[in-house]
Amino acid sequence: MQAILSKLGLAAVHAGVFDGEWSGSGPVTDSVSPVDGSLLARVREADATDAETVISRAHEAFLAWRETPAPVRGETIRRFGDALRVAKPELAELITWEMGKILAEAEGEVQEMIDICDFALGLSRQLHGRTIVSERPRHRLMEQWHPLGVVGVITAFNFPVAVWSWNSVLAAACGDAVVWKPSHQTPLCAIAATRIAERVCRETGANPAIFSLVCGASATAGEALASDRRVPLVSATGSCAMGRRVGQAVHARLGRTLLELGGNNAVIVAPSADLELALRAIFFGAIGTAGQRCTSTRRVFAHEAVADALESRLRQAFASVRIGHPMDRGTVMGPLVRRGAVEDLLVAKERLIGEGGEILYGGEPLPRLGECYVTPCLARSRPDLPLVREEVFAPLLHFMRYRDFDEVLKWHNAVPQGLSSAIFTRDLIEAERFLGVSGSDCGLANVNAGTSGAEIGGAFGGEKDTGGGRESGSDAWKNYMRRQTSAINHGDDLPLSQGIQFGDPP
Ligand code: UN1
Repeated sequence: MQAILSKLGLAAVHAGVFDGEWSGSGPVTDSVSPVDGSLLARVREADATDAETVISRAHEAFLAWRETPAPVRGETIRRFGDALRVAKPELAELITWEMGKILAEAEGEVQEMIDICDFALGLSRQLHGRTIVSERPRHRLMEQWHPLGVVGVITAFNFPVAVWSWNSVLAAACGDAVVWKPSHQTPLCAIAATRIAERVCRETGANPAIFSLVCGASATAGEALASDRRVPLVSATGSCAMGRRVGQAVHARLGRTLLELGGNNAVIVAPSADLELALRAIFFGAIGTAGQRCTSTRRVFAHEAVADALESRLRQAFASVRIGHPMDRGTVMGPLVRRGAVEDLLVAKERLIGEGGEILYGGEPLPRLGECYVTPCLARSRPDLPLVREEVFAPLLHFMRYRDFDEVLKWHNAVPQGLSSAIFTRDLIEAERFLGVSGSDCGLANVNAGTSGAEIGGAFGGEKDTGGGRESGSDAWKNYMRRQTSAINHGDDLPLSQGIQFGDPP
């Protein structure tokens, strides 16, 4: 581990604040691995004054960066992508050690970063607006997209670097500077990613403060971003409770937010489904990242014609999943992020039994592996149970049966969250209804593909309590810019819009 840390440029006690220089005047905290309880390194966090200074420095950096032509900005991003390709093995290992996901998934996370760099590089030559015909003679309407300012990026432990990169690399292509507040549980991943960005900026001559960092408590770092008027946009990923707090604070000063919050993602398995395909998708969706993706599959609705077969295959799969050290290539499920997450799962399991659900398999701690390990839990539930409406951030899958397609669509949408969804069917009518106006109410709706593992090319995010934001691909870049509409008169007269005759000034 020490070799990896030093390759990534991390000291045993590392400064957790970066604004062109590394500092940190707040408390020193430990980063402890959920894999084996070992101390990885210590981090000097931000205090309230640090956060204030970082925002000022990032703002200064923004003023120069916005004047840099976008394709020149793209060159820094291209080199960042290349540096990530080189650092991929070490960065992936650090992700695994610091938050516990298996190495293959950690590598996938770094790949998402590389992919978004490629996307943002292309984007740096495509930040285009429209020209619109005017209702006034000899007039033209035009829209432009300008850099927005300092973007606050708040991220969660489960994707400790990829979610930052979707936001920060797009924001940087758009001419913004970013101040990142990472999860309290994954400061080393954040420091390592920032160090790579810093090195690349120094090579290209960009001010490295465009990728600023404030490790620290929500009460200092998070609140500074939420309340500071120099931060026009705060993009936050995490729980619905966190999103509500951040959203209220930012909206109170009429700032903008981009929220990507909880999910409660379901898979519908119809009578015509390819059951093996559905099984594989549900298995990856429920157990991948130990059920700690916001896109994790949490609910399955199986048609009664296939429910028995699917339930017994799932039970078998849950019981034989290889749980263990996440660095071991044979492992499919590693530890949860911390001991408290295991406790949350145990509490949820008891609640479910009390509400009338039935545990089919698992939800048992595995102390012989370590205090963060647990078996995945498969439960027979009902759509009306209160727990089914909640996001438990752990490998807990509710298995439910349905008979009628209209009814299952209703149940599918009857939760507060609206992130990801899937249907497995070969029936065109069902597939189209699922994607239609009265179908899935989620931001992501897939056919014969699972709820998790979205590509960066699409806009990512969801509706209702998920917060409504869209990050990553498609036209999500527009979030990070300010739109300006201009009317240009090339005539000799001043016709008014809406045909208003106003008379001349006396
Ligand atoms: C998250 O869990 O916050 O679609 C993001 C997926 C990943 C991203 C998940 N590409 O599962």
